[in-house]
Amino acid sequence: MTSKMWGGRFSAGPSAIMNEINVSLGFDRRLGKQDVRGSMAHAEMLAEQGIISKEDSAAIKQGLIRIELELANGNFPFKQALEDIHMNVEQHLTALVGPAGGRLHTARSRNDQVATDFRMWVRAAIDTLDDEIKKLQDVLIGKAEANADTVMPGFTHLQVGQPVTFGHHLLAYVEMFGRDRGRFADARRRLNECPLGAGAMAGTSFPIDRQSTASNLDFDRPMANSMDAVSDRDFALEFLAAASILAVHMSRFAEELVVWFSPQFGFVTLTDAFTTGSSMMPQKRNPDAAELVRAKSGRVIGALMGLLTVMKALPLTYSKDMQEDKEAVFGVFDTLELCLAATMGMADDMQPNKERMAASARLGYSTATDFADWVTQKLNVPFRESHHITGQAVKLAESKGVELRELTLADLQGIDERITADIFNVLTVEAAAASRTSYGGTAPSNVRAQAQAARERYLGSKLKW
Ligand code: ARG
Repeated sequence: MTSKMWGGRFSAGPSAIMNEINVSLGFDRRLGKQDVRGSMAHAEMLAEQGIISKEDSAAIKQGLIRIELELANGNFPFKQALEDIHMNVEQHLTALVGPAGGRLHTARSRNDQVATDFRMWVRAAIDTLDDEIKKLQDVLIGKAEANADTVMPGFTHLQVGQPVTFGHHLLAYVEMFGRDRGRFADARRRLNECPLGAGAMAGTSFPIDRQSTASNLDFDRPMANSMDAVSDRDFALEFLAAASILAVHMSRFAEELVVWFSPQFGFVTLTDAFTTGSSMMPQKRNPDAAELVRAKSGRVIGALMGLLTVMKALPLTYSKDMQEDKEAVFGVFDTLELCLAATMGMADDMQPNKERMAASARLGYSTATDFADWVTQKLNVPFRESHHITGQAVKLAESKGVELRELTLADLQGIDERITADIFNVLTVEAAAASRTSYGGTAPSNVRAQAQAARERYLGSKLKW
């Protein structure tokens, strides 16, 4: 049997394989709500412009309201044979309201229709994600405040660098997630133009009103070029790109949790809620959720690479290749929601082991910079020279198997006779952290102020970007 929707020029039906490769209903049914909404706006505009009658428009509207309910209640009669969500909605509409349903597609193509539906879907997805990232920031800011003076080692090269505060470390992620929200917000601004009315690609001879459908669907304006309108998937790529960076941020946090949670570090504990046991090794408690968040960034980045590859070298305008855009975006959205929930759960669940963190911060000559800064400031020695003097102190401490603060004054004066006992005041990790009061630095006083600033910047009703 040929298709009722496009089969006029065909004499036989498609092969089973043709159907199988072509059908998108399995995934694009997620566009149902947007498809109904776009169709309502289109039908209303067609009637306003005198292209279809008010009666037909009213009948279409009634039918679409019913379809909306059926979709919401899960009793919409999906038919695989009808390829995609657009044809399912239209065919069922016609079954419900009769010939008026057949007038809905006047001055419209599935090409502008799918682009419109999908933009609306991505727009809503961005709004949902923004809300979820914001909640994650809220949890992190709370933890940061509670740990404004929890001292831990700060690393470069995963080697102990300088003492920092746990609160400061957590606020670094608040900034990263803030930029993620900014990227999604940027993408949203650019995607918020309406393709509807571009037709198959060249526009239409019907006297349509694209301004009215655009504003009815909460777009800022209609897209300026009909060929661009049906062939552009930048909005999906930008969504996936922003998603990839977000996923990378979550994977970095997850990796830190894995490291902090290992008994060798022992910086944080996670409860049974976010860990699992081993089937063989009875002693084990594994941070599986963190590992999976770390790993799932792979799918997200893969989806971006996948769609970039689909779009690369596609000639204008629409090609069926572009049907591959949806699974990438839907899958990424689901993955992000899951990973955000897991990350938020773990951030809330983790408890710092303060003694262990502080003890670890004391290792590895972490206050060597403070030593050098003291020599520079108190002895008025150029920093390069102080660096050298400090290096000798580290070497001596290393040979004696002690930390810097455990050297005697005589030891230090053997290196440079100008050094006084006053230097020991800057060699504790607490003093080292507290001294870093420069803007953006790790001092507890800063962390408290930064947490408050982050609250105002990120947790208000609108992101202050
Ligand atoms: N299911 C299609 C897609 O997602 C809808 C557009 C079909 N357009 C066409 N000319 N065959 O891309």
